Amino acid sequence: MDVCHIVGARPNFMKAAPVMRALGERSVVHQRLVHTGQHYDANMSDVFFSELNIPASDVNLKVGSGSHARQTAEIMIRLEPVLLAFKPDVVLVYGDVNSTVAAALVCAKLQIQIGHVEAGLRSYDRSMPEEINRIVTDRLADLLFTPSEDGDRNLLSEGVEARKIHCVGNVMIDSLIRFLPAAIASSKYGLPERFALVTLHRPSNVDEAATLKSIIEALLEVNTHLSVVFPIHPRTRQRLESLNTDLSRFYLLDPLPYIEFLALQRMATVVITDSGGIQEETTYLGVPCLTLRNNTERPITVDLGTNVLVGQDVDRLRCELTKIVEGKVKRGTVPPLWDGHSSERIAQILCNMPALLK
Ligand code: UD1
Repeated sequence: MDVCHIVGARPNFMKAAPVMRALGERSVVHQRLVHTGQHYDANMSDVFFSELNIPASDVNLKVGSGSHARQTAEIMIRLEPVLLAFKPDVVLVYGDVNSTVAAALVCAKLQIQIGHVEAGLRSYDRSMPEEINRIVTDRLADLLFTPSEDGDRNLLSEGVEARKIHCVGNVMIDSLIRFLPAAIASSKYGLPERFALVTLHRPSNVDEAATLKSIIEALLEVNTHLSVVFPIHPRTRQRLESLNTDLSRFYLLDPLPYIEFLALQRMATVVITDSGGIQEETTYLGVPCLTLRNNTERPITVDLGTNVLVGQDVDRLRCELTKIVEGKVKRGTVPPLWDGHSSERIAQILCNMPALLK
């Protein structure tokens, strides 16, 4: 069976790594990896390949940044001849970034089977570009690997045939479990005992100067209770530079490698974020998470985990933070199948499909 994995942006890498490893243990499988080049800075891409032991990509499409239409179109244009040459039996796409939907569109037109890893998540907020990517990718996919049962329910309610849906659990947690010992062993950066770890990159939070300013002001307030450690995404750094705000009281860091960031999450008193994956990682780690969004495509992290949605409501943030500082933290449980074996389940399902085996 020829499997081609498509990755492009930071959150893809820790999802593809364990699936590649699980498939790599099967002699019937031949794998190729295409990097679209959506993320290209060393600290947004290369460092994840080396830390997560991902083999070098067979092809890098080097699309770089651009508007949504331009980036998506460029990936499609450059990927089509690659897939025509590789002729894979199945293409695996991950998550909800532009590289995911672009690859799914190319495969659907070439009639190549598509497996979507992390299928079925819905925020029901179409102002999020990722929601559009999720809906379209799931619509086109032949195999939908969901991280939790809410994903199955969403897909069934959209009319996806039950036979295509496989609840396998969360592959990102496979990586977390594998690399947690390394994170525990890694250094502490000389950081304070108690700190809030902050990440911020959603266009809805950082692209409007007024919104970003109010979030930064709230974080300055947080800073009166806890130190603030803030690894800054390139998109956010660009926006902050034009904001002219004094950030000197924060521990500002460049985007961090996977293991270092995992170490920080583990040690944090609270994580304040607008990321998707971090809501899941904190739930697994049992670390309180305050999400600066009004909705989430990962409601299980709120229902079962440690996640609380605070939107952009500064009073809510302040109130939830006070509870955490006073030790009144939300205790969560780890969702079913987030057990480190999700990739193995995907590999088994693929290898049990006669249509894919040559
Ligand atoms: C993308 C994903 C988002 C994911 C995030 C993780 C989409 C629609 N969005 O958002 O779901 O949560 O990745 O990081 O796919 N840039 C650099 N260096 C890089 C990459 C980007 O400087 O290596 C800068 C560029 O100015 C670029 C901007 O960051 O324009 C945004 O990058 P882009 O890939 O368009 O979206 P992200 O915000 O990273």
